[in-house]
Amino acid sequence: MKVLVLNGPNLGRLGTREPEIYGHTTHADLAELCARTGEELGLDVEVRQTDHEGEMLGWLHEAATRQWPVVLNAGAWTHYSIAVADACAMLTAPLLEVHISNVHKREEFRHHSYISAHASGVLVGLGVEGYALALRWLAKK
Ligand code: DQA
Repeated sequence: MKVLVLNGPNLGRLGTREPEIYGHTTHADLAELCARTGEELGLDVEVRQTDHEGEMLGWLHEAATRQWPVVLNAGAWTHYSIAVADACAMLTAPLLEVHISNVHKREEFRHHSYISAHASGVLVGLGVEGYALALRWLAKK
């Protein structure tokens, strides 16, 4: 089964970006963790990251067309992008929302997600392990 892991804005800077919040794992390390977990679970995992909303919308449309499950960390778009939420609403295979940090312990504006209403589940505050757990859940589905 093919699974897309999609990361939104600023997540390409993992490792150096506010490490006290997001840890020291780089985006390349995260991609490696997802690939390794996918191999273990028999999933064909593809990890993508973009800082461009239109590119993310295109990937979500592709996942909707192909009926691929998605693990999505939409970064800051989570909190304000109705366009990303609308694209998530089109998905027919499961969508899991991931946040590395516990957004509920942080600023008020991070407490609301436009994506959660379209997700089968949400993994928040578990660091990059949240991605591996999301893949495990999908493999069991
Ligand atoms: C994040 C949390 C968001 O509030 C923030 O804008 C991010 C990363 C997380 O993974 O914890 O870019 O999605």
